[in-house]
Amino acid sequence: MKIFSGSSNKPLAQNSALELGVEVSPLQISVFPDGERRIRVVGNVVDEKTVVFQSTSTPPDQNYMELFFIVDALKRSGASEVTAVIPYLGYERQDHVFRDGEVVSLEVIVKTLERVGIDKLVAFDLHSIKVPELFTIPVLHLSALDLFARKIKELGLTENAVLVSPDMGGIRRIKMLSESLDNMPFATVEKNRDLETGDISDSSMEGNVKGKAAIIVDDMISTGRTIVAAEKILFENGAKKVLVFATHAVFSGQAVKLLQNLKTEKVFVTDTILIPKEKHFDKLEIISVSKTIAQGIRDF
Ligand code: R5P
Repeated sequence: MKIFSGSSNKPLAQNSALELGVEVSPLQISVFPDGERRIRVVGNVVDEKTVVFQSTSTPPDQNYMELFFIVDALKRSGASEVTAVIPYLGYERQDHVFRDGEVVSLEVIVKTLERVGIDKLVAFDLHSIKVPELFTIPVLHLSALDLFARKIKELGLTENAVLVSPDMGGIRRIKMLSESLDNMPFATVEKNRDLETGDISDSSMEGNVKGKAAIIVDDMISTGRTIVAAEKILFENGAKKVLVFATHAVFSGQAVKLLQNLKTEKVFVTDTILIPKEKHFDKLEIISVSKTIAQGIRDF
């Protein structure tokens, strides 16, 4: 098996390869003066099973194009199989028509990934459990929930604490985590977004957090507005303290500033997306998913 990496998250590819006892194979990735990317496979991949890592996080279009080109280059060079490891799948939130006339971006992405020649996909904490069904190729859907459960236990947070889904879409996730933590209680926040601006207009909550540690669990933090709204309502309802666990650190716009200024004690995220040093902050802790990915690749 040969492992390759696009440019979006090389450390995760390297750490996962290390777990698998192999090295990341070289790829030439260059950029023409006009911004177009050029990919070249330098070693021999004839009849090889290959694995390509690429998080299609910001800038999503560039990272997708680079991935498409790497897959094409591997196929043309004779690889017998290409497994794409896409730890963060960009455009997955645009999975249906929210308003008349809109594109279903995720469907375009799925079609293109398959058409370009990917044979298998390894994905991580997809926004909806329905995403794998959109593919005709095999999809391995991994999750950080076990890592989060371990951390919650390690921190002794299973007593006098409540898991919180910051929106109705996250209930399945929160129920799964609750089950793996001996049916730890959970609460849910209902947030309403303005579809035009993305602003959260109002939120309400169900469940009792009074005097307890509230542990928000989400698939991603993008602008951070969901966490800000959830923290507000949790403290209004008497939560003693708030902690956040989210798989994908998208951290767009003012997210880092917003998160830094929160009363939230700790923000745990994973390395599915590479977080540049300038976006690190004191209460941020990054949990690596490299072992989970390596194990997934081994068994897939
Ligand atoms: C929404 O359905 C997702 O699960 C996240 O809650 C959301 O994408 C986070 O976005 P933001 O940080 O911009 O509020």
